[in-house]
Amino acid sequence: MRERRVIGAELLEQARQRGRIVFEILPGDIVTSLATETAQRLGIQLLEGPLEKPAHPVTDGNTALRRGLYRRGAKWVAPARGASKAAKRFGKIAIVGAGGVGANIAHLAANHDIADDITLIDIAPGMAEAVALDLNHAGGITRTRSKVTGSADLAQVAGASVVLVTAGRARSPGMTRADLINVNKRIIHSIGEVLKVQVPNAIVIVITNPLDEMTVEMLRVTGFPRERVLGMAGTLDSSRFRVSLAKAAGVATADVEAIALGSHGDEMVPVTSQAKIKGRPLNELLSQQQIDDCVQDAITGGGQVVALKKSGSATIAPAHSSVELLDHMRGAKTGPVPVSVMLNGEYGLDHVVLGVPANIVLSGLLGVEQLPLTDNELQLLGIAAENIRQRLSLN
Ligand code: LAC
Repeated sequence: MRERRVIGAELLEQARQRGRIVFEILPGDIVTSLATETAQRLGIQLLEGPLEKPAHPVTDGNTALRRGLYRRGAKWVAPARGASKAAKRFGKIAIVGAGGVGANIAHLAANHDIADDITLIDIAPGMAEAVALDLNHAGGITRTRSKVTGSADLAQVAGASVVLVTAGRARSPGMTRADLINVNKRIIHSIGEVLKVQVPNAIVIVITNPLDEMTVEMLRVTGFPRERVLGMAGTLDSSRFRVSLAKAAGVATADVEAIALGSHGDEMVPVTSQAKIKGRPLNELLSQQQIDDCVQDAITGGGQVVALKKSGSATIAPAHSSVELLDHMRGAKTGPVPVSVMLNGEYGLDHVVLGVPANIVLSGLLGVEQLPLTDNELQLLGIAAENIRQRLSLN
């Protein structure tokens, strides 16, 4: 067996001198608290290993030698945190709604080769079939193993372990997401009725707006447990928040850790108390005004796209944010992720769907993560919950 190492400050200092900016921590290693501080001070990332090493391509001896030397040099950077060798592949996933978001999800899912069968369904005749054909035509270049199928028949969801629901009307400029409740509620109900029969054990990811309200409706109509009805919004809102913070601080987005919780709308709660830029609290790098502006930018991000497009809303970032959930479910990404779930006492709230950090796996929600939020943040979550309840007459 491998000997357990005690990682001390000196070891990290030596590593830094050799130009290392990441340090692999193997299972069983003991990291002293001084070493943790030293890593922060020196800008070394401590990554849980074993890390996936880049594959050695077949090549001639000279190139292999140079590559070997290079990798041991200062510029070798470990793969992004959270990448896991143990990622599962889905058998079949279904996407209901082949508009901008649905088509982009299918595109990303096929490119990442995350399922054998990606079935797109759209009520508009020919629409899903066209997108599927188009995506399959790219297969000669991408060489993906994923096969995309298109249909106008909702019964084609049968056999899917995950169904992503994007169908519904999108906002026009000047509309709030809440303005879509009545029209999209009917759509969610008609889809949910079919899901209940065709895929009684599937995980449903709701993407249709207004997100939190539509997730409640999906729970109501399918009668599925909360573990199997998730809403996608927090990954999108968090991404927008991180991008905004990175821009304000002039750093790479990879240097920003931040999430947004609460509702996917005006009552969103970008969590400033937990956010970090290069491992430091926000107020060490940004003024209060800059932080407030970033919060507003995250809250209004979707609306900014709607205002520019005039018709329809964002598609690309929402698709990435949906695939992020699939990646967490299948173990390609690890750790908690913001997702809208029916709360059951977490954060002092229940009987309402709200974005919270949660661990999700192939069978859906594993559990909600309790973050130490400030009183103000908790209060904002409470306000979001109250407004959603009122909009759905849940009181
Ligand atoms: C957005 C819409 C899709 O946030 O809700 O872009």
